[in-house]
Amino acid sequence: MATEPKTSFEVGGMGHSVKRKEDPRFIRGQGNYVDDIQLPGMLHMDIVRSPYAHAKILKIDSSKALKVPGVLAVITGETLAQYKLHWMPTLMSDTQMVLPTDRVMYQAQEVAAVIATDRYTAADGVAAVEVEYEPLPVVTDPFEAMKPGAPVLRTDKEGKKDNHIWHWEAGDRAKTDAASKASDVVVREKIYIPRIHVASIETCGCVADFHPGTGKLTVYMTTQAPHAIRTVFALVAGHVGLSEEKIRIVSPDIGGGFGGKVPVYPGYVIAVAASVVIGKPVKWVEDRMENLQADSFARDYHMEAELAATKDGTMTALKIKTVADHGYADAAANPSKYPAGLFSICTGSYDIPDAFCEVDGVYTNKPPGGVAYRCSFRVTEAAHAIERMVDILAQELKMDPAELRMKNFIPPEKFPYHSALGWEYDSGNYPAALKMAMEMIDYAGLRGEQAEKRKKGELMGIGISSFTEIVGAGPSKHFDILGIKMFDSCELRIHPTGKAMARFGTKSQGQGHETTYAQIIAEELGIPAAHVEVDEGDTDTAPYGLGTYASRSTPTAGAAGAMAARKVRDKARKIAAYLLEVAEEDLVWEPGKFSVKGAPQKSKTIQDIAFAAYTNHPPGMEAGLEAVNYYDPPNLTFPFGSYICVVDIDRGTGEVKIRRFVAIDDCGNIINPMIVDGQIHGGLSMGMAPALMEEITYDENGNNQAGSFMDYLVPTSMETPNWETGKTITPSPHHPFGAKGVGESATVGAPPAIANAVVDALSHLGVKHIDIPITPEKVWNILKAKGVAE
Ligand code: CDP
Repeated sequence: MATEPKTSFEVGGMGHSVKRKEDPRFIRGQGNYVDDIQLPGMLHMDIVRSPYAHAKILKIDSSKALKVPGVLAVITGETLAQYKLHWMPTLMSDTQMVLPTDRVMYQAQEVAAVIATDRYTAADGVAAVEVEYEPLPVVTDPFEAMKPGAPVLRTDKEGKKDNHIWHWEAGDRAKTDAASKASDVVVREKIYIPRIHVASIETCGCVADFHPGTGKLTVYMTTQAPHAIRTVFALVAGHVGLSEEKIRIVSPDIGGGFGGKVPVYPGYVIAVAASVVIGKPVKWVEDRMENLQADSFARDYHMEAELAATKDGTMTALKIKTVADHGYADAAANPSKYPAGLFSICTGSYDIPDAFCEVDGVYTNKPPGGVAYRCSFRVTEAAHAIERMVDILAQELKMDPAELRMKNFIPPEKFPYHSALGWEYDSGNYPAALKMAMEMIDYAGLRGEQAEKRKKGELMGIGISSFTEIVGAGPSKHFDILGIKMFDSCELRIHPTGKAMARFGTKSQGQGHETTYAQIIAEELGIPAAHVEVDEGDTDTAPYGLGTYASRSTPTAGAAGAMAARKVRDKARKIAAYLLEVAEEDLVWEPGKFSVKGAPQKSKTIQDIAFAAYTNHPPGMEAGLEAVNYYDPPNLTFPFGSYICVVDIDRGTGEVKIRRFVAIDDCGNIINPMIVDGQIHGGLSMGMAPALMEEITYDENGNNQAGSFMDYLVPTSMETPNWETGKTITPSPHHPFGAKGVGESATVGAPPAIANAVVDALSHLGVKHIDIPITPEKVWNILKAKGVAE
């Protein structure tokens, strides 16, 4: 299904697969990333990190490091404490050390920083810093952390007597328990989604440039949310004279963010402090191992789910209890009212009358975080839980999982749908997406093939995931980060020659905003997308916005772009009426021009009008043609999809091979079909990764077992199958051009489709559930236990 574009391909409005405007510079190696930035006199920083997961710091001896030629300074917690900069708030209103004064709380924690004339000298300086530690008991298991008598980790918090961070719940516990009790069938399962890492191609870093003459601080940094970071810097460092108008954050090109570039990392703050004190630019760029070992992780959710139904498979109640391991600090960067993110979307695509979910956050000796890795704040966890539980229920009822889904989908006529956990789903047509996926993959044929293969002892599985996402945070009445409301913005200027400059409060990290935002303006004004320059990421020029994560750019800033363009069009209409000497009501708009009703030969193009706005505007009207919109969405958008995965399992090695994967997505009206497909392809690969390969584990001493790409397995093109994609289109009724976000759908939808396929391949052997990542070793052990390993 595709909507017919309203504009010509040359104009390139919505629905055209316009080639990405940013790609010529990227594919020629002409991008401008943080590490490309070179400033006169720039110094370099490297960080001393803790080998221990929990230890007292007895002594930091910098004397040898300071003797390394080229080393200029060693910064410790004591140095920062002089300026009260050794602690900082996390974006979840928790607190986190910038540099420690007495204790380290996780392996690879920043202990000190060395400033030198070049990167290699800084590393030599790091090697020469001598730190004496006294190891303390380590707690890596959140269940152990919650036991009475467990060492209390956050002794910095006065009166804290345990490792519990918060409790959060949604829904009606008593009603759900009663409904569950009254049901014919109840299935229960413990589902763990392990700690993983976004592992973006570009690691984190910054160049902090404080100019002693002007008092202005410019920080080029890998951040997905430059405006929010500017405000946080002003709030944290206001007392040392850094006031907000003197701070400029620039996010240049970013090589992948996926939620990992939302938090503020200690390295940024130390580099800023060093630049302010020394008066020279300071560059800090992590290496790969620092990135994997110390930056915010994702997931680490221990869930216990219970799904109830009648005998005929009508779902009646859902209950999920979760323990969220946040490591040493809650640095999740969720909206403040939602400590467990949007986990309460866990009723998914199903019309479940009663539901209850609860989450408890817990401290352990691991790096802090809980970031929304390519999902809208814990939606991946929620979708995995419900989609696995639906398959477990199907298995229990001996029902086909597609049939069970069809039976329980929220019917299209029930939208807007109010879920038992409090959300108002804007629009959806779940049966259509699943039907399309089943037809595309020949579901009935596959089930026949599977039965034949089983007779021969071959292991083949078919897995479905019919997920619902919740993106576009968010309506300001509910959504804020550290109190800053989650609107987004666009400032649009039309130049005299009819070309445009559009600035946004978001920041692309590879999603193609320079192209799709230009297409939105092209759609609304008829100015060719090629002539709309898009600018994001510089707080001195872009309007204030909350940034890009959680697939929020299209639902919020994209909407702001359309609204600003409509304001421009309103003014353009007045100018056209003046030029054509008719009343405004006598004009009709088609993309790119106003013409007189009944006399289409009398018209003015948007280019004519733009020129007039600066040369011949109506008396009494302000000159110029520009508008600003701060868009506060009335609701979130609820994209969805149905994925079907076919796997074959090797009985000799336990290896899972994805033979086919069909992904039907619905993100409402599409701006650029090619870009959306690119988002889906990337998202599917990033969904396959934790399903089959990725996991960060720790030993009992808190040593990271997957701190480099030797152990942390990311998929290459060799493991990635050919993704087959398709679309249904169910516009969002409240979004200005009917779009929903899409960037994260595939990462949310893919893991349960793959896990369901593997379990399906083994279900006749009595296998009910396997936690991801489903590694060959895990599968082979099951095959061995069931006596079918070859
Ligand atoms: O916030 P983020 O950019 O990561 O996510 P998004 O809003 O889902 O957009 C990802 C990319 O897909 C952007 O370039 C969007 O403009 C594009 N997109 C689209 O072309 N049509 C949609 N309905 C949704 C997104």
